[in-house]
Amino acid sequence: MKNNYSDVQVSPKGNQTTKITIFYFSGTGNSLWAARALARELGNTELISMVDWDINQRNIDSQLIGLVFPVHIWGVPKRVLEFLDQLQAMSPDYIFAVANNAGQVSNTLVQLHKVMKSKGLVLSSGWSIVMPSNYIPWGGPGSSEKQNELFAAARIKISDIVQEINRRVKKPVEKGPLWQRIVFTWLYKLSFPHVPEMDRKFWVDDRCNQCGLCVQLCPKKNITMLGEKLVWENHCEQCLACIQWCPQEALQYGKKTPAYSRYHHPEIKVKDLMK
Ligand SMILES: Cc1cc2nc3c(=O)[nH]c(=O)nc-3n(C[C@H](O)[C@H](O)[C@H](O)COP(=O)(O)O)c2cc1C
Ligand code: SF4
Ligand code: SF4
Repeated sequence: MKNNYSDVQVSPKGNQTTKITIFYFSGTGNSLWAARALARELGNTELISMVDWDINQRNIDSQLIGLVFPVHIWGVPKRVLEFLDQLQAMSPDYIFAVANNAGQVSNTLVQLHKVMKSKGLVLSSGWSIVMPSNYIPWGGPGSSEKQNELFAAARIKISDIVQEINRRVKKPVEKGPLWQRIVFTWLYKLSFPHVPEMDRKFWVDDRCNQCGLCVQLCPKKNITMLGEKLVWENHCEQCLACIQWCPQEALQYGKKTPAYSRYHHPEIKVKDLMK
């Protein structure tokens, strides 16, 4: 079973009286970890996966809503853009976003702000959190020392974000340097229409034992097992959950991934993404 709207956790630790809902999207757990940390510090917070959320099945009346997700190809993932239509049916006073990335948030939060505005929604604040990279086609996540440094910095940043949310701070969203926003926004626009077919580069080596985890985990139901063969159906969202969580490390992407370490956030288990 994959993520759905019943993946709900209410955090007891913070001192919020306002009811908060955080919607998250996460391939390898960084965004789920950040969402959980925010929820713990804010208190009175419900965590809901964007995957399979269906407004028709449950009404959300929270006055404060957060969106927590990864940066994909220097912009907002399609899943999050599509989720905004669901957000239109809610009427919160304050919406914040946290874009998890590997150091290049670029124009992501500005893009989100603009798209939301075009839908009559207001993004009150938006923060970038730098985490280890899960983009395995370009390499591994870095040494465990480097990862721990990033997690420590992320914890501090999350505490700062919580203070600002508690004060309902409204301010311009965080963004990368101008050169990054110009060059990479152009690349995002070029790449975005082709993301669904980027799964053509997946292949499986002989360590695959047909356990089916990748099939179950895919948020887009994009992987089918035909006999002993795995088939990608060209509806990919490039979350990279399938390749990163394969227990046999049998799943590959392009030529270089056999040499690269797999990554998922160390405090997130695969079952956390499959509730
Ligand atoms: C398809 C894809 C594209 C990515 N593009 C970027 C990017 O443009 N900038 C960046 O800093 N990180 C990028 N990343 C890295 C992720 O944003 C980062 O590792 C994030 O923390 C992953 O969060 P998750 O574990 O919740 O999926 C990309 C990752 C993927 C899978
Ligand atoms: S998760 Fe890995 S081992 Fe399991 S079916 Fe998929 S590729 Fe094969
Ligand atoms: S095929 Fe893999 S990368 Fe594509 S959406 Fe499914 S799990 Fe994510």
